[in-house]
Amino acid sequence: MAKKYYITTPIYYPSGNWHIGHCYTTVICDALARFHKLMGEDVYFLTGTDEHGQKVEKEAAKRGVEPIAFIDPLVSELKDMWRLLDVKYDRFIRTTDADHVACVQRIYQKLYESGDIYKAEYSGYYCTPCEAFWTENQLKGGRCPDCGREVTLQKEESYFFRLSKYAPRLLKLYEDDPEFLQPASRVNEMVNNFLKAGLQDLSVSRTTVKWGIPLPFDQRHTAYVWIDALSNYISALGYGSGDDSLYRKYWPAELHLVGKEIVRFHAIVWPAILMALGEPLPKRIYGHGWLLIGGEKLSKSKENARPELTDPYELVKRYGADAVRYYLLREIPFGSDGEYTNEKFLTRINADLANDLGNLVSRTQAMIVQNFGGKVPPRGKEEGPDGELIAAAEGLFEKVKRAMDALNAPEALGAVFAVISRANKYIDETTPWLLAKDPAKRARLGAVLYNLAETVRIVAVLLRPFLPAAPGRILSSLSRSPEEGFDALTFGMLEEGAAVEKLPPIFPRFDIKKEIAEAEKLVAAKQAEQKKGEAPAKEKKPEIAFDDFGKIELRVGEVVACERVKKSEKLLHETVRFGDEVRSIVSGIAKYYTPEEMVGKKVVVVTNLKPVKLCGVLSEGMVLCAEDKEGKLSLVSPERAVESGAEVR
Ligand code: MSP
Repeated sequence: MAKKYYITTPIYYPSGNWHIGHCYTTVICDALARFHKLMGEDVYFLTGTDEHGQKVEKEAAKRGVEPIAFIDPLVSELKDMWRLLDVKYDRFIRTTDADHVACVQRIYQKLYESGDIYKAEYSGYYCTPCEAFWTENQLKGGRCPDCGREVTLQKEESYFFRLSKYAPRLLKLYEDDPEFLQPASRVNEMVNNFLKAGLQDLSVSRTTVKWGIPLPFDQRHTAYVWIDALSNYISALGYGSGDDSLYRKYWPAELHLVGKEIVRFHAIVWPAILMALGEPLPKRIYGHGWLLIGGEKLSKSKENARPELTDPYELVKRYGADAVRYYLLREIPFGSDGEYTNEKFLTRINADLANDLGNLVSRTQAMIVQNFGGKVPPRGKEEGPDGELIAAAEGLFEKVKRAMDALNAPEALGAVFAVISRANKYIDETTPWLLAKDPAKRARLGAVLYNLAETVRIVAVLLRPFLPAAPGRILSSLSRSPEEGFDALTFGMLEEGAAVEKLPPIFPRFDIKKEIAEAEKLVAAKQAEQKKGEAPAKEKKPEIAFDDFGKIELRVGEVVACERVKKSEKLLHETVRFGDEVRSIVSGIAKYYTPEEMVGKKVVVVTNLKPVKLCGVLSEGMVLCAEDKEGKLSLVSPERAVESGAEVR
C-alpha cells in the first residue's frame, strides 16, 4: 500500500491585499505535495481560509455588510491566486463550511464532557489583529509582543481549556521527538518563552464576538478563533463525523508547515487539544522564516512603503508562475528570513532560469536539430568528462530526495542547478561546435549530444515538483511524456532516433534595470491609487465673524421617541423635546444607532435650520455628530446632565 502523505498550510485570514509573502508557505507545500506524488505516495494536500473572529466582524461592520458578504470575494481572490501559481490542493476548507462548524462543535462538546473545558471569568489582554490573548508579563512595553500593536484589557465570562495540565507532556514530547518541531531553534523558543514558566489555562470562548461558532453547550459563547482554526486540520478529513474514512486514512499529518509567528499555536495549543481528545499528534511541525522588505516582515498592515513589486498577480502576469515559484523556493534559505527586492528576484530568474537552464536546453536542442536532423543520436562510447556528467545526473535524485526529506527546497534546487552547471561546463569541455566541423568526429558529437539531452531530460523530471510548466514542455520537446515520473531517472532511457524539437526560449532574459524602473512605476501608481481611496484631507473652512456664529441656534434636546424611516437604510426619525416644545427630526445615523438606543439620549441640535422633508418625513433641526476617519458617526451630548431646551453656546 502506498505511503500516506498528509500536508497542510495554515488557513489564511481573508484579509485581501495578498502579497508574495503569503504565497511562500503554500508554494512550498505545493512543491512538497507534488514531490511526494511523484514518489508514488498517496498525498492529501489541504489549504483554506480562517474566517471567523472579531477582526472580520469589525471589517464587515465598517463596510455595513454581513461578514460572509465581506469574506466571499476575498476567498475567491485567494483561490485565483493559487490557480495562477498552479497550486493544486485536494481540499480548500473554509471555517464557515458546515462540516467544519459541526466538527468544531463536536470537539468542544467532547472536551467539555471530559472536563478539559470549564467555565470561569477571563481577564487579560487581547490583540485583535493577531486574535491572541496575552498576560501582562508577556506584553512588550504594554503592547502585543508579536506585532507591537495596542492591546485591550478584556474581562468576561469564558470557558477555559486546561492547557496547564499538558505542559509536562509537551516538554516530554519535544525531548523524546526532535522531529516534532523544527527547526530546533523553535523548540528553544517554545520552551524558554512559554513552557518553562508553566502554561496558563486558555480562554477558548467569547461572548462579545458574534461572528464565530456557537458552543453546543452554551449558545451565548462562540469558539475562540484559534481553536476553530486549528481544528480544520482534522475537520477537513471528517473527524468524528458519520464518514471519517479520510481521517482514518490520512491522520496523523506528516507535516503542518507554518510561518514562525504562529508556531506557538501549532506546537503548544494544537498538540494539547489533540492529547485531550486522545488523538495522535501530527508527525512534524515546521516554522519557516519570513520574506522581509527593508528588514521587516512583508505585511499588508504594516505597509512596507518600498518600490518593491510584491503583488503576486502582477508578478505572475509579467514573469510567469514558474519564475515566481522558483524564486520563492530557491532564494530564501529554508528556516530563515530572506529579504525581497525586485533586483534579487530578477537577478535570480535571469541567472538560473534564462541563462543556466534556458541556455542548456536551447543549445542541446539546436545542435541536435542542426547536426542530426532533429533525431536523438546514438549514445556512443563513454570517454573524457562523460562519466562525471553521467554520475552527476544519476546521483541527482538521491540528493533531491535527501533535501526534500529535510523540507529543504532551496537545497534540492541547488542540487539540480549544480547538475545544470555541470552540463554547461561539459559543453565547454567537449566543444561540440568543433566536433561538428570534422566528419570523423560525428560519432563523438552524437555521444556528447546524447549525454546532454539525457541530462536535460533527468533535470526536467526532477524540476517537476517545483516548476509546473517548463519541465513538461522540455520533456515533450524530447518526445517524452510531459508527466514523466521518478521511475524514469535511469541514465540512458532516451531512445535513439526520437524526435527533438527546438523550442523558442523557455525563459526570456529580462533587462533588470528596465524591469526595476517599470516595477517602481507600478508600485508608485498603486500607492497613489490607494491614497486617492483614503478620505481626502478636510478643507479648512474660512474664518467667520462672531456675529455669523451667533446666527446659529444650538439647543439640547431629549429624544423621546425614535423609529426607522421606511425605505431608508440610513435615516432615523426622532421625536425630540426642547423644554415644552416637541419637534420632528430626521438624522442619517441608522447605521450607528438603533431606535431603542436613541430614546432617552440628550443630543445637541441646530434648531434654526430651515425645515425640510427627508424621505417624506419633516425634519425641523439637525442633530450634531462627530465623524471619525472611517466615517463612523457619534452623537455630541452635553458632558453633564442639563435640562432639555438648554442653549448651547
Ligand atoms: N489564520 C492564521 C493561521 C491559522 S492556521 C490554523 C494565519 N493566517 S495568515 O493569513 O496571517 O498567514 C498565512 C500564512 O502566510 C502563514 O504561514 C504566514 O506565516 C504566512 N505569511 C504571511 N506573511 C508572510 C511573509 N512576509 N513571509 C512568509 N510568510 C508569511 O496566520
